Amino acid sequence: MIGLINVGKSFDGGQTYAVRDLSLEVTEGETLILLGPSGCGKTTTLKMINRLAEMTSGRILVRGKDILGVDAVNLRRTMGYVIQNIGLFPHMTVRGNVDVVPRLLGWDKERKQKRTEELLNLVGLPADEFGNRYPAELSGGQQQRVGVARALASDPPVVLLDEPFGALDPITREQLQGEFKKLKKRLKKTMVFVTHDIFEAVSLGDRICLMKEGELAQIGTPKEIVTQPANRFVEDFLGQHRYQLRLTLSSLHELFSQENLSPVKGEDLATISYEANLVDALELFEESGKGRIAVCNAEGTTIGALRRDQVLEKI
Ligand SMILES: Nc1ncnc2c1ncn2[C@@H]1O[C@H](COP(=O)(O)OP(=O)(O)OP(=O)(O)O)[C@@H](O)[C@H]1O
Ligand SMILES: [Mg+2]
Repeated sequence: MIGLINVGKSFDGGQTYAVRDLSLEVTEGETLILLGPSGCGKTTTLKMINRLAEMTSGRILVRGKDILGVDAVNLRRTMGYVIQNIGLFPHMTVRGNVDVVPRLLGWDKERKQKRTEELLNLVGLPADEFGNRYPAELSGGQQQRVGVARALASDPPVVLLDEPFGALDPITREQLQGEFKKLKKRLKKTMVFVTHDIFEAVSLGDRICLMKEGELAQIGTPKEIVTQPANRFVEDFLGQHRYQLRLTLSSLHELFSQENLSPVKGEDLATISYEANLVDALELFEESGKGRIAVCNAEGTTIGALRRDQVLEKI
């Protein structure tokens, strides 16, 4: 869907580089995470995809077409963009912010209104209550939601998100991440998502591209990155989180076969999904205060129980 081929961005006539010789592919419907420390070139890479920044070397193809052959404004209309630090227009209401692109595209009033209301509902900000407020009258988390709604407004096939949940407290952040996962499943867009948070990357990405000083350090699924770091930089980036990340990446399903589960007979046990991970299971033991938890399948039917010691053994 999106291909970067030896892409570079230099300044001062080639003396300094923001991005250097970057090649990667984003497949249709995939969420690719651009991850890395501050200044490693994530925002620059994102902006080169929608031509808010022009590359100085290499090529970018979208659906096989070189983006330099497409008018930049038309290109951007096919790509939603959530700007780092929210970037809402302060003098426009929530509605006005969300329907910026539909307005540019000349949609009629009814279509714009319907779409805006649909999107505000989607991100949990009912239009009746929030539509006529100004950004300054919203919390940080609500502003971020408006940013996401705005990027989705014209239903673009591609969405670029630059730290959409940055600068939020951990609880709101986790909540928005959960909602993003649901949206992702439902909308099936091709997304490039920038973050510097490894936990966010592992939780939301189909694949992760880890960058170091403008170059690609490793690209792979969250599991590949966490369990098979390609080099010292990746190892150091994971650091002490490596073990915790491994726990979040192993589902109960992968770790325990049905034969490992013990029968449940009319007991009142807290229930967890077979697809949940070890950290979730530990939290549930903690919460329920019992030595066993029930495991259910995708249909919600209990298929057996796990003992605390079975779970601890895997850690
Ligand atoms: N216009 C510019 N002129 C010179 N250097 C620039 C320019 N824009 C960006 N850079 C440099 O390019 C590098 C990459 O910047 P970029 O904004 O892509 O980083 P980032 O990974 O998004 O960082 P952060 O996590 O802090 O947002 C940085 O070292 C930055 O200083
Ligand atoms: Mg950035």
